[in-house]
Amino acid sequence: MEVKFSTRSAEQLKTPPASMSGVVFGTVFSDHMFCMEWEEGKGWHNAEIKPYGPLMLEPSSMVLHYAQMSFEGLKAYQTDSGEHVLFRPRENFKRMNRTSLRMCLPELDVEEVLTALKQLLRLDSGWVPNEAGTSLYIRPTILATEEAIGLKVSSKYLFYIILSPVGPYYSQGFNPVKIMVSDKYVRAVPGGVGFAKTGGNYAASNLAEKEAKELGYTQVLWLDAVERRYIEEVGAMNIFFVINDEIVTPQLTGSILPGITRMSVLELGKYWGLKVKEGRITIDEVLNGLKDGTVSEVFGAGTAAVISPVGTLSYKGEDYQVSDVETGPVAMRFYEHLTGIQYGKEADPFDWVESI
Ligand code: PLP
Ligand code: COI
Repeated sequence: MEVKFSTRSAEQLKTPPASMSGVVFGTVFSDHMFCMEWEEGKGWHNAEIKPYGPLMLEPSSMVLHYAQMSFEGLKAYQTDSGEHVLFRPRENFKRMNRTSLRMCLPELDVEEVLTALKQLLRLDSGWVPNEAGTSLYIRPTILATEEAIGLKVSSKYLFYIILSPVGPYYSQGFNPVKIMVSDKYVRAVPGGVGFAKTGGNYAASNLAEKEAKELGYTQVLWLDAVERRYIEEVGAMNIFFVINDEIVTPQLTGSILPGITRMSVLELGKYWGLKVKEGRITIDEVLNGLKDGTVSEVFGAGTAAVISPVGTLSYKGEDYQVSDVETGPVAMRFYEHLTGIQYGKEADPFDWVESI
């Protein structure tokens, strides 16, 4: 793929934040972005790295009406030796292609977009923050851009990648979060698009998240849509439980996002010789386990959220405390090791980290 470079002049370059403390997640963007277009009969074309700025879209663009789109989230890290690296980036573009199949979007060539991403990252390398726990969040996105409001699959698309220097996703940092189990709304149904990383899943979650926040909770834990018993995932992360010394996470049923952090926690746990299991877990099992002490930890896992201990679970108006609202040893071990691999402090036995 031939990438055209239209870069900012030295005077037009912005200054990255001197410190990430106080910067709200995902609100600051780097100097440049990568864009390319797709058209029926032509495929992907017009690949270009250009200044970050507004898109030109007609109000009739199909994505604005019918939400035919997909997005991804991954991060670039500065290691202790000053090198910039990515964490399992191919997994994100492969997942984007799985979302694309479900959403009728054109597929990407994983190696080509990874090469383009690295070109963008090398150009904006000054935007990778280096304070502890910070990173450059990468947001690849595909939008349906055909100018037509009849309901059909679009014949034109825009793919772009933008970069945002970030600190912790939650204002609590690595401290236990309060999560509300939703018994009123559901996120995804069997046969639907829950496994896909598409905007509509998040738009449909907003009301539940808003109501949970008004009651003092950080995010919502979703139950399955049919029986409203089985645990699925949290708004922006997958969920893990430590039950009788076994690490358990909901199995991928099609309505849960197959998280790359989730997969990494499972692989790391197995590598350490811990008991790990993907299965069906009911909310009653978890709440009873919290009462009788068999559930000793609950934590979330995601790119933005990293490993996030859960200190309180609320269900039907009642709060249940988890491990005395302290970060448990299992969550701590995964946090330390995963971030250790990402920041080059720990050996990387799986070759998860890729140099830019
Ligand atoms: N579940 C949802 C709904 C998410 O938005 C995310 C974030 O990407 C995750 C899980 C975690 O996925 P990953 O670890 O690939 O970031
Ligand atoms: C991520 O963790 O990358 C996500 O996409 C979560 C997002 C809703 C901020």
